[in-house]
Amino acid sequence: MRISTTCICSFIIFTAGMLQGIDAAQGKYAQMLFNELFEGYSNALRPVEDTDMVLNVTLQITLSQIKDMDERNQILTAYLWIRQTWHDANLKWDKDRYDGLDSIRIPSNLVWRPDIVLYNKADDDFSESVNTNIVLRYDGKITWDAPSITKSSCVVDISYFPFDSQQCNLTFGSWTYNGNQVDIFNTLDSGDLSDFIEDVEWEIHGMPAVKNVITYGCCSEPYPDVTFTLILKRKSTFYIFNLLLPCLLISFLAPLGFYLPADSGEKVSLGVTVLLALTVFQLMVAESMPPSENVPLIGKYYIATMTMITASTALTIIIMNIHYCGSGAKPVPQWARVVILDYMSKIFFVYDVGENCTSLQCVGEQDSESETTRTSSKEQGRGEGRRKPLSKGRSSDSDPLEKLREGGKDGSGFPGKNARDVVGCCSCYRTLIKNIEYIANCVRRHKANHAKGVEWKKVAKVMDRFFMWIFFIMVFFMSVLVIDKAR
Ligand SMILES: *[C@@H]1O[C@H](CO)[C@@H](O)[C@H](O)[C@H]1NC(C)=O
Ligand SMILES: *[C@@H]1O[C@H](CO)[C@@H](O)[C@H](O)[C@H]1NC(C)=O
Repeated sequence: MRISTTCICSFIIFTAGMLQGIDAAQGKYAQMLFNELFEGYSNALRPVEDTDMVLNVTLQITLSQIKDMDERNQILTAYLWIRQTWHDANLKWDKDRYDGLDSIRIPSNLVWRPDIVLYNKADDDFSESVNTNIVLRYDGKITWDAPSITKSSCVVDISYFPFDSQQCNLTFGSWTYNGNQVDIFNTLDSGDLSDFIEDVEWEIHGMPAVKNVITYGCCSEPYPDVTFTLILKRKSTFYIFNLLLPCLLISFLAPLGFYLPADSGEKVSLGVTVLLALTVFQLMVAESMPPSENVPLIGKYYIATMTMITASTALTIIIMNIHYCGSGAKPVPQWARVVILDYMSKIFFVYDVGENCTSLQCVGEQDSESETTRTSSKEQGRGEGRRKPLSKGRSSDSDPLEKLREGGKDGSGFPGKNARDVVGCCSCYRTLIKNIEYIANCVRRHKANHAKGVEWKKVAKVMDRFFMWIFFIMVFFMSVLVIDKAR
């Protein structure tokens, strides 16, 4: 056991020593190579054998992370790895002369570099990219990997926010050389997304690369560039939960304002509260959007909802006026009686004021009002003639009065004890009858007025119910429309 351990140990030491020796040898050769290569080398000039020759640069982008997408300022901040490859005609060597040394890594500022920049850069500091090392191969091939945080301008179209997708162009090209001096190619058809760190807000749907050659009017030289188009799709769950659903729920409250009893005095304030809540949401959206002509989808939804709620509040005010028409008003017109009280009340299941509240019936029973009122109100509920309970033909209503009158006329019907009393008090009975008739007329008129008020109240109630359903349907369809866009 001990022997074997010693053996392994000595083997490791031996191997390490040999490797060190090789390293030392390579280091020596690398030093020699470096001295020889860079003797008289200038990194200022384009390294081609013939000045007429074009130098080909290939470009490959790896997208590592999307750091920020600023819709308001239309700036995309991304973390990229930029790999550029080209051949330097002045940096070649015969690897056999240098003990098989086929590549060296040296700081990139020692060699000539193509001045490839991001054309649509939106950064305020034009700082140079990081001075990372390059890999120089014996045949002059140089590979330069540079990490870079780019801020690029990106035309953001927020028409479908929060269900939008965006396309951001990253255009790379040489700043000073034209296409006859430095030509640029893309290695692959698309940017590399294999190292992409998943973004919380955006899904990546590809990053195709195309080479464009632009020839400006003034000069005959072509100017090539490589454009990477980053296709982004917004993950809208966050916005659905924070902007859309609250608005949806609030907007469903608005039609319920029509259901609120008029006497609660809360009808208008409910509408106004809902309107204010929506305004807050709209401001939140407007703050994060660029002030462009395109109104985002959610903004349109807010505006439509707000318009609807304004309309509903205005209608509520009008209906409140109808509700409080009261006894001084004109009677309900015939057409309204037919259309609203007969047909619409049946369609919308409106029976009578307070009819569907059981508690109100209990109150009615305890009420000191006579049986007559309740009977009449029930008959009104059945939609039979409104005037009927008030007509003189009703027996229960006019019976005592009739009896009294008859009694006054001939005295026979009156339950008096003897005839002398009846004759003596005949004139005083007459006055009494007159007064009672007057009181009865007053009561009758009062009842008629009250019935008129009740009728107007019912008109208001039917209209309330009608608009409630109309607005419910509108809210529902608007919600369906906006959710439909989400797919
Ligand atoms: C550069 O690329 C063009 C087109 O692919 C090719 O014709 C040309 O030979 C290349 N030049 C060099 C120096 O490799
Ligand atoms: C982005 O680049 C592509 C390809 O060059 C081009 O068709 C498109 O118009 C560009 N988009 C913008 C907004 O510049």
